[in-house]
Amino acid sequence: MCGIVGVISDEDCQKYIFDGLKLVQYRGYDSVGICQKNNDTLKVDKVKGLIDKLVCKTSNLEGCKVAIGHTRWATHGSVCEENAHPIEGKDKEWVIVHNGIVENYQQLMCNLQREGEVFKTQTDSESIALLLSLNNFDDPIKNLIWTIKQLKGSYAICAVKKESNNYIYAAKNKSPLYAFCNDKITMLASDPICFPDGDYYKFEDGEVCVAKKGEIVFYNLNGVVIEKQKQKFQPIREKADKGDYEHYMLKEIYETPEALKNLTKNFLNIDIKNIKKLKFSNVKLIGCGTAYHSCLMGAIYFRKFLKIDAEAIYASEFRYGDYVIGSKTLCIFVSQSGETADTIAALLKAKTKKAKILSFTNVPYSTISSLSNIVIPISAGPEIAVASTKAYSCQVAGLYLLVMALKGEKHYYKALKQVCELANETEKFFINMADFAQDIAQKQKVFFIGKDSDYVTALEGALKLKEISYINCSALPAGELKHGTISLIESKTPIIVIITNKNLYEKVMNSALEAKSRGGKLYLISYKPPEICELENFEFCLSLPKVAQPLLCVVSILPLQLLSYNVSVLKGLDPDKPRNLAKSVTVE
Ligand code: M6R
Repeated sequence: MCGIVGVISDEDCQKYIFDGLKLVQYRGYDSVGICQKNNDTLKVDKVKGLIDKLVCKTSNLEGCKVAIGHTRWATHGSVCEENAHPIEGKDKEWVIVHNGIVENYQQLMCNLQREGEVFKTQTDSESIALLLSLNNFDDPIKNLIWTIKQLKGSYAICAVKKESNNYIYAAKNKSPLYAFCNDKITMLASDPICFPDGDYYKFEDGEVCVAKKGEIVFYNLNGVVIEKQKQKFQPIREKADKGDYEHYMLKEIYETPEALKNLTKNFLNIDIKNIKKLKFSNVKLIGCGTAYHSCLMGAIYFRKFLKIDAEAIYASEFRYGDYVIGSKTLCIFVSQSGETADTIAALLKAKTKKAKILSFTNVPYSTISSLSNIVIPISAGPEIAVASTKAYSCQVAGLYLLVMALKGEKHYYKALKQVCELANETEKFFINMADFAQDIAQKQKVFFIGKDSDYVTALEGALKLKEISYINCSALPAGELKHGTISLIESKTPIIVIITNKNLYEKVMNSALEAKSRGGKLYLISYKPPEICELENFEFCLSLPKVAQPLLCVVSILPLQLLSYNVSVLKGLDPDKPRNLAKSVTVE
């Protein structure tokens, strides 16, 4: 699960690689590296850490006409400079960058060691670099084809060869790879966002290519040249910058109201009749992480407003579980990136069961979008921070709009308009949460409780806080505390209580007070301020602005996102790039 970029250009190769790597960093940022090539020489530089460190370390190779770069999310082998890509093969003849997993690498390693090859890294990728030198074919593309025929698993590979033409050899199976070519520059990348504006090629599985200046020649695995059509250029994911914000995450939280406006505008173009025509009687909503939480919220909407049997399922569970689905099932896949490996696999499984496929994604050209019968754009705009914020709000709001439209509500989008007006509230939340964060930043563990949709908000709030502050957080349905977890409540353990439904106020409050009586400290986020007589129960209270009840969950998550952000910053961490994570999880 890494990002790769390759470039052939008479000038500025290094710059193109660094700019490209910054754009695919969402795929991993444990280590980063570059290989520059002129006709004869290959020069590799790599570092553990971020691109700026690599930029400082890398000097220009004179006459450089080709370069490949890689930003890594470690799967095989620890995070260290040695395991960073590019990876050099025997005698540094071939140098490669690889995204994916070579599943049979143990077997390949044994075979290669028997042949006398020495592994210098702990990576599965090194087997590719070593295999490339094993034969002496007349044309390097044959080395690549022979090599990938030995591989099981997923790969996008860019390879360069010493003392040879200024070409890049590339191959793809299951991991994304794109190519671009005009008369000035030829590029390869994990994401077309790296390319200049213009039509580009999308590799299919089992395709390889030789990329040259001004030309890309594609082959199938029999070594036969194939003709490929270019993908029509459409303004790709906008390229984002931080503006005046210190972090992307904060900027993206503040962008939520605008994102919701875009969602509403784009949703009005969706032809609901096409979705009704799918004639489904039950719904499965499938996603991972934050997107799974959106699915939970969507399932609540389907059950509550359409009285349809609806269930949210983790994609990683769906792909191996025995869920009952068929042609009457509408499977809704939710994914910000549209590239999450588990979600893609779940979607392919649902297809084989003849389910109807609708997806919510933020990237129109993503794999999930291209595999779906109907796509509803999340319309959140670029989300760079690893922690998903505005995309979550748009996913939940989008599912609400879908359910309301299916219900035949005439002015279904009006309630959401109210939420879009909340731009000023974000600032108020920020101030409140900056204060509250001082207290939470000192803690080892935090609990979140709520009922029904507030339990989902609790789950998402807990995920956000643990993801970027490394505090152990748990979320529970309020009534479940007493069935075991209450034993973890000690003196001053923080319990964040979320209530947006007045019918549940007393029930949730009872559970909260049970925890308080064991020494817990209560922090309340509620649709209304507590009564004066209740005030002493809470260390902190935040009342939410008035919007339609089913959409209060889109509002109540904002202070929790801001709390997480503030705690992360107070702890001196980088909220945009939490440890061990990547924005897009493209491996199983
Ligand atoms: O791109 P996706 O929405 O499919 O990603 C799913 C999860 O990996 C993602 O939501 C993850 O949980 C976030 N980092 C949470 O903030």
